[in-house]
Amino acid sequence: MCGIVGYIGTEQAAPIILDGLSKLEYRGYDSAGIAVFDGEKIITQKAVGRLKILENLTCGGERLKGFSGIGHTRWATHGAPSEKNAHPHRNKTGTIAVVHNGIIENYSILKKKMQNKGYEFISDTDTEVLAHLLDYYYQGNPLETIIKVLHRVEGSYALGIMFADHPEAIYAVRKDSPMIVGKNDKGCFIASDVPAILKYSRTVYYVDNQEVVELKKEGMCFYSIDEEKLVKEPVTVEWDVNAAEKAGYEYFMLKEIYEQPATVNNTILPRIKGNEIVINELGISDDELCKVEKIHIVACGSAYHVGMTGKYIIEGLAQIPVDVDVASEFRYRDPILQKGDMVIVISQSGETADTLAALRETQKKGFKVLGIVNVVGSSIAREANSVMYTWAGPEIAVATTKAYSAQLTALYILALKFARVKVIMKQNQYESMLTCLQHLPDQIELLLGQKEKIQYLANRYAGSKDIFFIGRGIDYAISLEGSLKLKEISYIHSEAYPAGELKHGTISLIEEGSLIIALATQPKLYQKTISNMTEVRSRGAKVMAITFESNKLMEKAADYVIYIPETDPYFANSLAIIPLQLLAYYIAIGKGCDVDKPRNLAKSVTVE
Ligand code: F6R
Repeated sequence: MCGIVGYIGTEQAAPIILDGLSKLEYRGYDSAGIAVFDGEKIITQKAVGRLKILENLTCGGERLKGFSGIGHTRWATHGAPSEKNAHPHRNKTGTIAVVHNGIIENYSILKKKMQNKGYEFISDTDTEVLAHLLDYYYQGNPLETIIKVLHRVEGSYALGIMFADHPEAIYAVRKDSPMIVGKNDKGCFIASDVPAILKYSRTVYYVDNQEVVELKKEGMCFYSIDEEKLVKEPVTVEWDVNAAEKAGYEYFMLKEIYEQPATVNNTILPRIKGNEIVINELGISDDELCKVEKIHIVACGSAYHVGMTGKYIIEGLAQIPVDVDVASEFRYRDPILQKGDMVIVISQSGETADTLAALRETQKKGFKVLGIVNVVGSSIAREANSVMYTWAGPEIAVATTKAYSAQLTALYILALKFARVKVIMKQNQYESMLTCLQHLPDQIELLLGQKEKIQYLANRYAGSKDIFFIGRGIDYAISLEGSLKLKEISYIHSEAYPAGELKHGTISLIEEGSLIIALATQPKLYQKTISNMTEVRSRGAKVMAITFESNKLMEKAADYVIYIPETDPYFANSLAIIPLQLLAYYIAIGKGCDVDKPRNLAKSVTVE
């Protein structure tokens, strides 16, 4: 989604802003723009397409001289990607500039009102209304003006604003859309996401809803919407700067795939003490966990697929019923929550609008929410009643890999914890599962070392029109993620089906040479899945099976077999997903796709 960067200080602003925006490219965008105060007036430059074009137009920012400015990468919502719709938007006289993430929901009413007052609109965006509203209320005091405008607008926003006749300051505002500010000895920064300013400042402040920040070169002041001064505590960001760089890999996605052994390890390590699982950070006692009678897991996309796996594991190991919901459905279906229910939301970014809304909906009903989150200080992390961090570090590629693996690991830990406190699992099974869990990082490493077979198959099937994934139980959950990974980065049509469900319609799509990827990691279901593989093979399909090394049944049942090392079948997802991520990656590379920034997609989806 859109990105914002702003700077005011003793350095040239444009190169810093462009550099910051380049760190947000991963979020997805289709145009970019920048505004700088050049000593007399606000000058802007915009470009459709990649940030590189804007960088070339401004000679890396050199051509826009000035010590303060705001910049934006836009992911089109209202109006096509075009120069006129790109941010910053300005008032008619060009003395006020604004960049905006989010959606102004009442913009059409406001636009009509402003048009009736004689304001002319040149873009199709909701954001332009802000520039004219700021102009309308401006009587020389930026803070007062911004606050008046905030009282008029509805929706979600993170804003960067500058006024030509107050060049000593820039402003940041936020409601329901992420925004941080930071500071070093050369100035102050605004950013919609930490990686944008990590290189310049590790001391950041999270801007809360309906707060306004006035940034000057020597420091910043926080204000409430009632113009009261606020005191904020800084947060030190622990992320390694290099974590947001490619480190020699061609794409962030490949780098992040290879980071998975470390990521899984980081999620496990702090939570296993001797033979016990310790998740003190939840602030939930064993007694309270023991009283949980039903779990609702709510998430979007890949995080939802993690939830699907979680259902099988928690129900299987801890015998607690689990409902899994897509957040955009949960939030509007007036879910029935009862005493003894626990709601878990899962989110890498911690900013996904639907997941955040589901969290709030749950809290409105008087229930607490446990968040499994990657980004420290994100909205979900701050609003959830308890948080379990996944410690995957910054994930830059749009298609999630390492955060997905970390989320899975967090759910394994929770499932084992529930099984333990409910005294459902035998001691020897518990110990054996803990051992399997701790072996996962090494086993993932091993799989990553065997990519050649996957590359061969990727070359062979990069020209496919459709690829189908089938599996039963946990294997169905893995199929969903394998299929999503493939389609989102390679643009090959793909569907995932419970293996037994294929023949209820979708099998009509199978033709000579179609590729079916069959997940078979659950021994009690091997024979059933093999029957479904036989059904598609007898209709001309080729079958690639993913199964455990010990399962020699597959040699005959499939055309190609990818083996994964032995682990407890409950944990198979963590291993089976590795070849599927690599397959999607190498197919996309084979097709010449921009793997890190697939078309139409955005990293953190901060609008509904
Ligand atoms: C797919 C992908 C998305 C996200 C989804 C939720 O590769 O990355 O499906 O999983 O948008 O995002 P978070 O986890 O940030 O809430």
